[in-house]
Amino acid sequence: MLDAAVPPPLVAAVVLAAGKSTRMRSRLPKVLHPVCGRPILAHILHTLADAGVGRRIAVIGHEAETVRGAMDTYFGAGQLEYAYQTEQKGTGHAVQMAEGTLTGFAGTVLVLAGDTPLLSADVLKLLLAEHAQTGATATVLTAVLPDAGAYGRIVRGEGGEVLGIVEAKDATAEQRKIGEINTGVFAFAATALFAALRDLKPNNAQGELYLTDVLGLLRDAGRTVRAVVSSDTDVILGVNTRVELAEIGAKMRARILRDLMLSGVTVEDPANTYVEAGVTVGQDTTLLPLTRLAGRTTIGEGCVLGPDANITDSVIGDNVKARACFIESAVIGDRCKIGPFAHIRPGSRLESGVRLGNFVEINRSSIGANVAAGHLTYLGDATVGAGTNVGAGTITCNYDGYAKHKTVIGENAFIGTHSTLVAPVSIGDRAFVAAASAVTEDVPPDALAIARQRQTTKEKWAERRRTEKAIQSGSEPKP
Ligand code: UD1
Ligand code: CA
Repeated sequence: MLDAAVPPPLVAAVVLAAGKSTRMRSRLPKVLHPVCGRPILAHILHTLADAGVGRRIAVIGHEAETVRGAMDTYFGAGQLEYAYQTEQKGTGHAVQMAEGTLTGFAGTVLVLAGDTPLLSADVLKLLLAEHAQTGATATVLTAVLPDAGAYGRIVRGEGGEVLGIVEAKDATAEQRKIGEINTGVFAFAATALFAALRDLKPNNAQGELYLTDVLGLLRDAGRTVRAVVSSDTDVILGVNTRVELAEIGAKMRARILRDLMLSGVTVEDPANTYVEAGVTVGQDTTLLPLTRLAGRTTIGEGCVLGPDANITDSVIGDNVKARACFIESAVIGDRCKIGPFAHIRPGSRLESGVRLGNFVEINRSSIGANVAAGHLTYLGDATVGAGTNVGAGTITCNYDGYAKHKTVIGENAFIGTHSTLVAPVSIGDRAFVAAASAVTEDVPPDALAIARQRQTTKEKWAERRRTEKAIQSGSEPKP
């Protein structure tokens, strides 16, 4: 029989996220605090999907509806399953709460905590592969630490076999010296797990139902219990305080930048470059210092971004140059040149080859190919046709104090410097607007609109004035 014909073992993950975290000192539930732009819990749920886990069940309790609402918004309703633990009586009790959701499920149950965002899909795949290959009933992911601190210790027998886990608070002085710890990530055979959970007793220092006690119970029942040692010790780093939030954020940021560099992106100064989780960057793009790429952002190939490019929720084409700018919820075509000091606001779209220079703001506007707006311009609720030149200081007056109005400029038009375009108004293809015009009426194609007072020149006026002033004060006229 071909290997491909063997169905993969079914895996369901139970993510423990019911606990309250007082040490964060926050109104926001801990698992919703973002790390590199993504809620902590969402990192874990993403990683599970990356590891090929089919079902994801979050056990929620503290601020359950807030957590659920945030996750459903993030992943889309129906993508996740939830189990409720109204009282936090321990990790074993939390997993018990997921039993009803998994009725009839006979595959592998992966159990993990909701607050360790650095856990990687590779580590999970390794654990699942080992668990499947050895046919163990339970496999715990462990790590060896120089200082095992408050973590549960892995107790092994003479032959190295796993006997069980003892919590630091319940451990003897001798057991506390053990360097191998429980990461809190397990793979279990579903049926055996839920059967063993029913036998848990809160006979421990915290009076809780410990998930960790399941290993000893399974072993006593003659089941195989194994451990996989993770060489990556970051998997255990949980967020408990805002200090840890920043530390874990820094590690994740470094990891994201490293992956980008290995994929062909140049990052001149990784210590001062910020790319959020989920952002994609094309090959041979260069990120210069103080560049921040956030949210659902996609960057094309061959771009040079920064110094100081801030891009959020945007799609950037190939060979774009953007420095010292803010770009939010916008689509930027190939070969555009943006900044320094440009602000592209939500709902804006730039076709290819657009040039936006110093102190230019674009808001809810469509800018055609090769449009140039080099200096001091505001285009709001505007459509600008391809090839049009927008002179320095052009302002669309899109708001009349009650409503926003549209400005439509055709192709290859020329808007003279310091023009004021009072919307709603349209300017036809190839039309010219004279410098310093206040345009209040539509300009037809190929026309020239001059909307300002004609210049009056008074010959010798200044000389006459100097003479008058001198007579008044009785002194010599100024030269
Ligand atoms: C747990 C393990 C410990 C391991 C450590 C790794 C137990 C008894 N101990 O300890 O061996 O070294 O994780 O980080 O399992 N939670 C609930 N409901 C509860 C209790 C906890 O949902 O009733 C959630 C928490 O929100 C958290 C996770 O389970 O996300 C782990 O709980 P926590 O109290 O942090 O476990 P530790 O005491 O750190
Ligand atoms: Ca605890």
